[in-house]
Amino acid sequence: MIGRLNHVAIAVSDIEAATAVYRDTLGAEVSAKEEQPDHGVSTVFINLPNTKIELLEPLGDNSPIAKFLEKNPSGGIHHVCYEVDDILVARDKLVADGARVLGDGEPKIGAHGKPVLFLHPKDFLGTLTELEEA
Ligand code: CO
Repeated sequence: MIGRLNHVAIAVSDIEAATAVYRDTLGAEVSAKEEQPDHGVSTVFINLPNTKIELLEPLGDNSPIAKFLEKNPSGGIHHVCYEVDDILVARDKLVADGARVLGDGEPKIGAHGKPVLFLHPKDFLGTLTELEEA
């Protein structure tokens, strides 16, 4: 059911410093920073030949990544994102198999303008897992 790895997200407390690591030290192509107030994060995408890295920095008071950064002050891998052909078909199959979808269970429009949803990390090997409609 899942297809390509769309991105790996890394939560950071200083997105400018994190971007510089990828751009200057690792020599990667990086996007401009974008604020995503609906999601409580600012993002920078690192474009690699076969996938992307999504840098996430908290935005606003109720950022969903604030707690993660309290536990991981130097940053860390926050989630992985896989592409699916039809997000509602994928969701319904996973829910039927007992997986938990975070939030109200309905897809939201993600950072790329496509529907996404998040699956409970306890159901997926301790890893927060995002699905994005390809
Ligand atoms: Co993501």
